[in-house]
Amino acid sequence: MSEKLLLRFEDVSTDLSDIDNYVSDGGYETARAALRDRSPGEIVEAVKDSGLRGRGGAGFPTGLKWTFVPKGTGKPVYLLCNADESEPGTFKDRQILEHDPHQLIESMIISAYAIGCIDAYIYIRGEFSTGYETLCRAVADAYAKGFLGKGIFGGDTEVNIHVHRGAGAYICGEETGLIESIEGKRAHPRNKPPFPAVYGVFGCPTIVNNVETLSCVKHIIERGADWFKSIGPESGPGPKLYGVSGHVKKPGVFELPMGTSLRELIEVHAGGLRDGRKLKAVIPGGSSVPVLRADEIDINMDFDSVAKAGSMLGSAGVIVMDDSTDMVAVLRRISHFYHHESCGQCTPCREGTGWLEKILARIEEGHGTPADLEKLDSVAKSMMGTTVCVLSDAAAMPVRSFLDKFRDEFTAAVSGASGRGGESARAVA
Ligand SMILES: Cc1cc2nc3c(=O)[nH]c(=O)nc-3n(C[C@H](O)[C@H](O)[C@H](O)COP(=O)(O)O)c2cc1C
Repeated sequence: MSEKLLLRFEDVSTDLSDIDNYVSDGGYETARAALRDRSPGEIVEAVKDSGLRGRGGAGFPTGLKWTFVPKGTGKPVYLLCNADESEPGTFKDRQILEHDPHQLIESMIISAYAIGCIDAYIYIRGEFSTGYETLCRAVADAYAKGFLGKGIFGGDTEVNIHVHRGAGAYICGEETGLIESIEGKRAHPRNKPPFPAVYGVFGCPTIVNNVETLSCVKHIIERGADWFKSIGPESGPGPKLYGVSGHVKKPGVFELPMGTSLRELIEVHAGGLRDGRKLKAVIPGGSSVPVLRADEIDINMDFDSVAKAGSMLGSAGVIVMDDSTDMVAVLRRISHFYHHESCGQCTPCREGTGWLEKILARIEEGHGTPADLEKLDSVAKSMMGTTVCVLSDAAAMPVRSFLDKFRDEFTAAVSGASGRGGESARAVA
């Protein structure tokens, strides 16, 4: 798979965020043909058949999710595009939003038509100023060309896209938090069931999909489900965006077949480690997923293979750490993020994230004791599976895996012989 699709903007000489360039490049023809020649049911079937799984983190089959929308309720159906992208280490959706927003809009027209939605939303992360401006311009240009609104492409389909800007809270990326936020409320996640497909935004059937997931739809409809299935593993195929950051020579977002090996991603595409350094650890799917040691990178980066290796593909935000990394300091930093971002609705998360950060601060500053390691593990354990949403699990998983995989470093940090503490540690704190 050498041709780039999701990152096509990297291969063409024109600016694809300009609607005229996008149209000259064949843009909107797939949506036009789909609305003219195919029934909504045929599109849902094609997406189901393609094996596309959600790129937002959980990897749920997209076509199957779409079939959960109940028929004949008399209520409107909504499509929400999740462009919150707040998981640390994740910056893939941003590429599409800033450089090829029409790819997303065209895909959303096809997806909205398939599920019977007239009003679709793109919920974009507050800090994405460039993405927000580019997207708003692209949506306005699509309306001006008659690609959005009533009677699009001269037919009788109506699709509207509303861009909703978040204020920069991680919890707004959780689908039910996002729904509450669109409704104008504080983004406290809802209990599931009922799932959004049945009872979502404004109490109506709602499909929430990630930017990259939706962007795949246009390519599936254009090239067929069999083409999509021919890329990567049967259990979750397709082109995939991998973001690589940290101690590599060429950090960036790479479009590769799903299932590309983690070693190839780091050593070839991201240019390998900085000179003279050795690999120590890799977080394969955004900061919330379990960390891997250097000897665990010979795995394929697809949902099932990473799960088999004891971690998760998550958002495919790969964070690479070399042998200069202080794992205690990294875990403290990660825990600070989840403490800061907990919405506070559930006690295990609200209190637990704070305890984790406090204990880790103590350890990093040289005041920890061996009992703190047991406490960390037991607090983290009690935060898993006990809350409305999985932010709590997202905070607990790195703690448990760092303790498991880098135990020696944590043991040394609480032994009193670690050289921690004193002025330098206080300065960091
Ligand atoms: C705390 C939390 C934050 C999340 N943040 C995002 C996000 O920024 N973007 C995203 O697409 N999904 C995020 N998700 C996953 C969404 O809840 C949801 O599963 C996803 O948008 C569904 O789309 P998909 O099926 O296309 O993957 C988050 C989940 C949790 C628990």
